[in-house]
Amino acid sequence: MTKIPLAVAPRFYKPLLMARNAVRFCNLLRSEFGDLVLSRGFFDFYLLNHPDLVAVMLLNKEGLVDRVNRLNPIYQRIGNIGRSGLATSGAQHWKQQRRRIAPLFGATAIRGFGETMIATAESWLARWDALGRSGKTFNMKDETNELSLEVNTRCLFNTSLRGDHARLQGWFTVMKEYLEAFPVPVLSDWRVPTPLNLRTRRALRGFDRYAMQLIEQRRRAPLDPDSKDMVTRMLDARDEESGRGMTDEQICHEMLTFLIAGFESTSSALLWTFYQLSQHPAVEARVHEELDRVLGGRGLTMEDLPRLTYTKRVISEVLRQTPSVWFMARTAIEDLDLGGNPIKKGSHLLLSIPALHGHPGLWPDPTRFDPDRFLDDAVAQRSPNAYLPFGRGAHACIGSHFSLQELLVFTAVLCSRFRVVMAQQRFDPEDVRAGLSVYPRHGIKMRVVRRELTSARVPPPTTIGAPA
Ligand code: HEM
Repeated sequence: MTKIPLAVAPRFYKPLLMARNAVRFCNLLRSEFGDLVLSRGFFDFYLLNHPDLVAVMLLNKEGLVDRVNRLNPIYQRIGNIGRSGLATSGAQHWKQQRRRIAPLFGATAIRGFGETMIATAESWLARWDALGRSGKTFNMKDETNELSLEVNTRCLFNTSLRGDHARLQGWFTVMKEYLEAFPVPVLSDWRVPTPLNLRTRRALRGFDRYAMQLIEQRRRAPLDPDSKDMVTRMLDARDEESGRGMTDEQICHEMLTFLIAGFESTSSALLWTFYQLSQHPAVEARVHEELDRVLGGRGLTMEDLPRLTYTKRVISEVLRQTPSVWFMARTAIEDLDLGGNPIKKGSHLLLSIPALHGHPGLWPDPTRFDPDRFLDDAVAQRSPNAYLPFGRGAHACIGSHFSLQELLVFTAVLCSRFRVVMAQQRFDPEDVRAGLSVYPRHGIKMRVVRRELTSARVPPPTTIGAPA
């Protein structure tokens, strides 16, 4: 491995920035101190900004780091919510569970949700039509949140939970507040009866009751094979080694994990997609041209998706410049070497995805929005450790096919009919709230405008080949 100098930031460096905007804080650590930085404060961590260090942390070939470690206050909080779910379970259970669940999230299995995704996106067209006609501005964050919650609940639980959205949102808001609270070690402990801890436990009980009822319902009345949701698929799933299925409690924990991991992250990516399109007319025009050429004014089908190559690259670039999940954390369970620097067992390692994706050594002119960075040749020339919106290695995002398909479907269906326009004068894209997902601190005020088909759709002149 290349020798990478270790820089030590001053103790309690920029604490206000760290608390207010962790994405900006990590960007600053990278630009001021370099590829490996020790940050010391309420808790100490090493920030890794180099592909070789990413490999040590995420590929973890020698088993020197662990993701879920009770010493790590960030994961202590996440673990209290996710419990035996995939994102938070201990190594033994996780391994069996990942083996059991991975096939349910493979590209082919996820295609089975395509029609539901398309139908959900199309059900939004009338709503946007009304919004467009009224000329009303709205907060796009609320819109993408609702859209993503709707499609997640339809696909995962096969029910339009609009009636239940308020309840789900309520529980989710409390859990989010708990997960995003500053990870002060003692307050992360469930046993400390702070008002937030008590509220969160109440929200968890509410969700569990709700999920258990749904699971029970599916056990009693299985869905027909064509409309199988993720709950039914989990009820059917067996571990190929032991042949064992999942208990209702495990399914309940996974349902919450999928919602927490999947709904806001995808909503945030969609929000940033609309933002980027509104800021880059040339990119937007190419997306419209592609949609009109491929769809020819008709509705989207699953067969169209592979042909939307430019739109796909736009989404890849959105996830580079404004990745919706901003960090990955691990704890060293043995002494290890990071770029020639000895690191003690028990140390916390942090990878800030935006800091890595904005590294000028890895991405020329990183602030430029350029979807062509994702042309095949350009991708082949980069280290796979330079682009990590969905992580890498054993714990890489299990929902990546699901959310990429969801993003492509929503972008295609909505942008085939509408343009999205910024409706606020001043907007600082770096003023973000970096919680579970990265959002503009106050969302983005936007409006939608119905659009005409581009010339790609205009039928060829009838005079061609016709007698003069
Ligand atoms: C744009 C959307 C999404 C982004 C950017 C994203 C990002 C990530 C990242 C970076 C990780 C790796 C975490 C780590 O290594 O510590 C991860 C893990 C995970 N994601 Fe996603 N995710 C998205 C959508 C989803 C969806 C839709 C689901 C499920 C329906 C999901 C479920 C999970 C789970 C269960 C894990 C833990 C996997 C494991 O440890 O085995 N994610 N995600």
